[in-house]
Amino acid sequence: MSSVLIRDAVIVTMNGEGEIVRGDVYIEGNRISAIGPGLRQEADQVIEAVGKVLLPGFVQTHIHLCQTLFRGRADDLELIDWLRERIWPLEAAHSEGSVYISALLGIGELIRGGTTTILDMETVHHTDSAFRAIEASGIRAIAGKVMMDHGSEVPLALQEKTEDSLRESVRLLEKWHGAAEGRIQYAFCPRFVVSCTEELLVGVRDLSEKYGVLVHTHASENREEIAIVEAERGHRNVVYLDRIGLAGPNLVLAHSIWLDDEEKRIIRERGVKVTHCPASNLKLASGVAEVPALLEAGIPVGLGADGAPCNNNLNMFQEMRLAAFVQKVKHGPTVMNARSVLRMATMGGAEVLGMQGEIGSVEVGKLADLQLLDLEEFHAFPSYDADWYSRIVYAAQAGDVDTVLVDGRVVMEGKNVLTIDKKRTLEEADRELRELLARIG
Ligand code: GUN
Ligand code: FE
Repeated sequence: MSSVLIRDAVIVTMNGEGEIVRGDVYIEGNRISAIGPGLRQEADQVIEAVGKVLLPGFVQTHIHLCQTLFRGRADDLELIDWLRERIWPLEAAHSEGSVYISALLGIGELIRGGTTTILDMETVHHTDSAFRAIEASGIRAIAGKVMMDHGSEVPLALQEKTEDSLRESVRLLEKWHGAAEGRIQYAFCPRFVVSCTEELLVGVRDLSEKYGVLVHTHASENREEIAIVEAERGHRNVVYLDRIGLAGPNLVLAHSIWLDDEEKRIIRERGVKVTHCPASNLKLASGVAEVPALLEAGIPVGLGADGAPCNNNLNMFQEMRLAAFVQKVKHGPTVMNARSVLRMATMGGAEVLGMQGEIGSVEVGKLADLQLLDLEEFHAFPSYDADWYSRIVYAAQAGDVDTVLVDGRVVMEGKNVLTIDKKRTLEEADRELRELLARIG
């Protein structure tokens, strides 16, 4: 079993006690086996971390890797136009090669900025390519193909028959769930109620129970979306999802901005999880989620960048900053302090994925998904008597992440992602995008 010793770091553990300690972390195989000052174990790899800050890798609970290639191609639109005019036609033109490189580009950015786990919604086709990129890159991911069997405005290439959508999802699940020694998992991803028949959603409910996996969907992001759902199904999103038996502990909702009291109650009582995407919500002018109230009610809330075309970065430092600032302007400066925001970016995300026993904090026995920040920078000083939460959430930047480990493996060192050939990925991204746009004509 290989071992890694990280020496002399300031360790922001994010454990239940909120401990911050100076010392070493010893990793055997893919798990943390010791934390403390002056650990003397021999190790296959020693990382000197004097002056660096060690914290859990970020957990982003809503990402679309398949959209990274569309960064900058759908700016300044509202959700439904953004989807119909740009995103769906672009996704419809994807090929195996373009999905692969889109995923690799996104993962490169994610690892570069300290993200070690994602919940990822892919497109309708070529999802094996995304899983191959996830497998090769070393990131931890729960991912699934998007499911869409309803809606006349969906491009033909994205329209699926209900049974084909379910069958392809199960094929992918059986192939990829538990792959890469458990680093990869599958989630059913019906896109949103607007693009799914009830038959599909009920099928997803039964299959997710059968296989014990997550269901990830968008819900109550945009008022036009809610109006469509109410007109077609006679209920608001969460009430409808509850009526058909989908609202439960395996359900992860992206956005959940426009919830009424009944929907909030259902989310709380059924153990549904929520992902907050502040940058996406601001750029698409979707609204501001009531995150303090959700947290107050004990609902697990994670953070996510969403896709590159509605953000336009996959940068958890920006999400943390915005998550704090959008609430302060509404509710006053004392809400969403730095520690609570960092918790949402780490343990909160782990709870959303049901992985709070495995990831989200630096603790003995947990998987070694870690990041080291180098804060020896003008923008992050002074360091004297530092409030570490403040320094990380309000001052640090994605470019400060120096080293990243996932599953005990060093995937970035000295700010270089070791698992992805950057030059080749950037070149291939341009080539694949040129070819994809040519397919649209
Ligand atoms: N709702 C349905 N599809 C999408 C998507 O791809 N991104 C976002 N932000 N919302 C959606
Ligand atoms: Fe999304």
